[in-house]
Amino acid sequence: MPAPARRVAIVTGAAQGIGRAIALRLAKDGFDLALADLQSSRGKLDAVGAEVRALGGASVEIECDVRSEADVYALVEGAVAALGGLDVMIANAGIAPTKMFLDNTTEFLDTMYQINVRGVMYCYQAAAKRMIAQGRGGKLIAACSISGITATEGQSAYCASKFAVRALNQGAAIELGKHGITANVYCPGPVMTDMWAAIDKDMTREHGESEGTLSAAMAARSPLGRNAEPEDIANLVSFLAGPDSGYITAQAIQASGGIWMS
Ligand SMILES: NC(=O)c1ccc[n+]([C@@H]2O[C@H](COP(=O)([O-])OP(=O)(O)OC[C@H]3O[C@@H](n4cnc5c(N)ncnc54)[C@H](O)[C@@H]3O)[C@@H](O)[C@H]2O)c1
Repeated sequence: MPAPARRVAIVTGAAQGIGRAIALRLAKDGFDLALADLQSSRGKLDAVGAEVRALGGASVEIECDVRSEADVYALVEGAVAALGGLDVMIANAGIAPTKMFLDNTTEFLDTMYQINVRGVMYCYQAAAKRMIAQGRGGKLIAACSISGITATEGQSAYCASKFAVRALNQGAAIELGKHGITANVYCPGPVMTDMWAAIDKDMTREHGESEGTLSAAMAARSPLGRNAEPEDIANLVSFLAGPDSGYITAQAIQASGGIWMS
C-alpha cells in the first residue's frame, strides 16, 4: 500500500522535555502527531498540541499511561482514527529516579521496569501490529540512553531498564524487518530537562556538593564542552523517523556529545 502524503507519528511522554522537542521537530518535518502523556500532564500536553498546530501540523492529544497495555492500544487506535494511519512510533516516556545500588528495592525496580521496559514493549507491539496490517512498513523508535550502554553511579536500576530497552529493540528489529519495519533507539547523555535536574540534585546531595556540579562535570567530559538541549536529541530522532534512515535498524545511536565512546 503506498504511503499517504502526510506521515503520522506517535510520541509518548510528549508533554515536556525531549518528547516535546521531538514533537515540534517532527511537526516541522511534516508529520501529523498523536501526543501522549499522563493525565496529570494534560495541560502541558495540550499546550504542546497547540504548538504543533501553530507549525501547520495536525495534533491529537491522548492521555496514556504506558504502564497500561490497554492505554497503549487505545493510543494507537486513537491516533489512527484521528489521523488516518501510523508510520512512526516514538516510545519516549520514561523515568529516571536516582537510588544507590544498596538501596534498590523490589518495588523500585518493578516501577522502573513497568514504565521504561513494559511501556516500550507495549508501544512497539501495538504500533507494529498496526503497521503490519497497513502493509507499508514503519519505524519503531525508543528512548534509550548512554545508561543503556554503560552503567552510571546512582542509576543501576535505570541502567538495567535501558539495557533492556536496547535488547527489546534488537529483538523487534530482527523479527519485524520482514515487514519493512525498522527499530532503533536514541541514546542521549545528559539533556537539560526536569529529569536531568533531578539527577543532578540527588547525586550532588549524595556527594555533599553544590547543585549543578554534576552537570558541569558532564559538560567538561564532552569534547564539545556542553550538555545537550532537548533539540539536540530531536535532531537525531528526526533523522531516524525520516526517509534517509531506511537501511538503519537494530541500532542504539548516541547523541551524547562524545562523553561516551563506543
Ligand atoms: N534528560 C536526560 O538527561 C536523558 C538522558 C538519556 C535518556 N533520557 C530518556 O529520554 C526520555 C525523556 O526524558 P526527559 O528528560 O524528557 O524526561 P522528563 O521527565 O522531562 O519527561 C518525561 C515525560 O514522560 C512522561 N511520563 C512519565 N511516566 C509516564 C507514563 N507512565 N506514561 C506516559 N508518560 C509518562 C512524563 O509525564 C513527562 O512528560 C526518557 O525515556 C529518558 O529516560 C533522558
